[in-house]
Amino acid sequence: MAQLAINGGSRMVPEGSVKAWPPIDDIDRKMVMASLEGNKHAFGPNCKAFGEEFAEYTGNKYAIFANSGTAALHMGIVAAGVGIGDQVIVSAYSWSSSATCILHHNAVPVFVDINYDTMNIDEDKIEAAITPRTKAIMAVNLHGLCCDYDKLRKIADKHNLVIIEDSCQAHGAQYKGVNAGRLGDCAAFSFNQNKCLCSGEGGMFVTDNEEMFNSAARLWSFGENATPMQSRDYHSYALGWMYRGSDMVAAFGRAQLSKMQYYFDSIQENAAALTAKLKDIKGLIIPTQPEGYLHNWYNYTNRIDAKALGWQGHPAMLRDAIMAALQAEGVSVGIWQSFILPDMTVFKAKNAYGGGCPWSCPLSNADGEKIDYGKENFPMAQLHCDTHFGMTMPLRAPNRTDLAELVGDAFQKVFSNINELDPEKYRK
Ligand SMILES: Cc1ncc(COP(=O)(O)O)c(C=O)c1O
Repeated sequence: MAQLAINGGSRMVPEGSVKAWPPIDDIDRKMVMASLEGNKHAFGPNCKAFGEEFAEYTGNKYAIFANSGTAALHMGIVAAGVGIGDQVIVSAYSWSSSATCILHHNAVPVFVDINYDTMNIDEDKIEAAITPRTKAIMAVNLHGLCCDYDKLRKIADKHNLVIIEDSCQAHGAQYKGVNAGRLGDCAAFSFNQNKCLCSGEGGMFVTDNEEMFNSAARLWSFGENATPMQSRDYHSYALGWMYRGSDMVAAFGRAQLSKMQYYFDSIQENAAALTAKLKDIKGLIIPTQPEGYLHNWYNYTNRIDAKALGWQGHPAMLRDAIMAALQAEGVSVGIWQSFILPDMTVFKAKNAYGGGCPWSCPLSNADGEKIDYGKENFPMAQLHCDTHFGMTMPLRAPNRTDLAELVGDAFQKVFSNINELDPEKYRK
């Protein structure tokens, strides 16, 4: 095969061949301009309509459009009835706010290691982490693959726990034919730049449960009781935040939502074309889609099998060398998270609100000293951190399978010339 681009050869994926996400057309322009030229920029018609349309998209009764996925996650914590010092089970590997949203409510995140194959929480390790203070499971459907909800539901029913879905990455994904957003008791979605549905920034809380909807709405807008469909009395009944999104952003979100089927079909075809190229590469572990699961391929995340590649050093060194070689070939791969959550200072220091709160806060009585965030308790999450690299853009519309195949060719080129890489350059 040709010389690697990192060693002076020519790159496989020519500059400028990856088209930007999200594609913008006249539907976006028309809807955003109409909002801009209207005079309802807050509580506007697009905010309500986006909620209704997204509820229909996921198959939920209720939805609240918020200004971020993190806001929607916090709304989920409150809707689940989580209180000060209560514990919420969450995966040791996710975006920080899957767990900081628990701290927002002065509750305590309890991390559980991941299943290395699915990259999601290891459902079989959850029960060992449950205590009398456990109130909920934050089920992160990471990278667009759902958790095993049969297992989660069984555990939740047995221990009387609420399931909050972090579906911030899972638009369109399914488990046993059921849409992400309808698998837990409530769910949060993100619409930030990189998500499969993008409105720039934004989020959505969804549920079928009226009580949860009302609690979430209270948190969403100043502790007031009015849902997005009702008129306000401007009275704060409880502690609330300001999590509302603007009408123009909702208009952008609606325009993008109207194209979701095309986006979803494209990403499925592109991921299949890439998988066909990658599936037989020795030393590369491609993402799994177990039977009964529909992946949305938000982030096509691979891992390297360092041993299979004959590498004895730190796996991250070889991974970094491979990544650099792929980037030189024009493939925009990257590390999604280089720290497991329990190893992040915000958790490790156990002092989110000061004075030890919520872990050893006199008010919370959470007995937080017993909760162990030691890195050694999460070996699969750490291994994942050290071996993974992912990508999003090349699989998104309007990019087509020709690009996915070219990306696959670049992988084949790098892995068949792996002995020409110098992992020592990436020593940890
Ligand atoms: C798994 C996960 N949870 C939560 C979030 C937070 O979403 P947002 O950035 O919209 O607040 C993100 C994305 O950033 C995410 O990927």
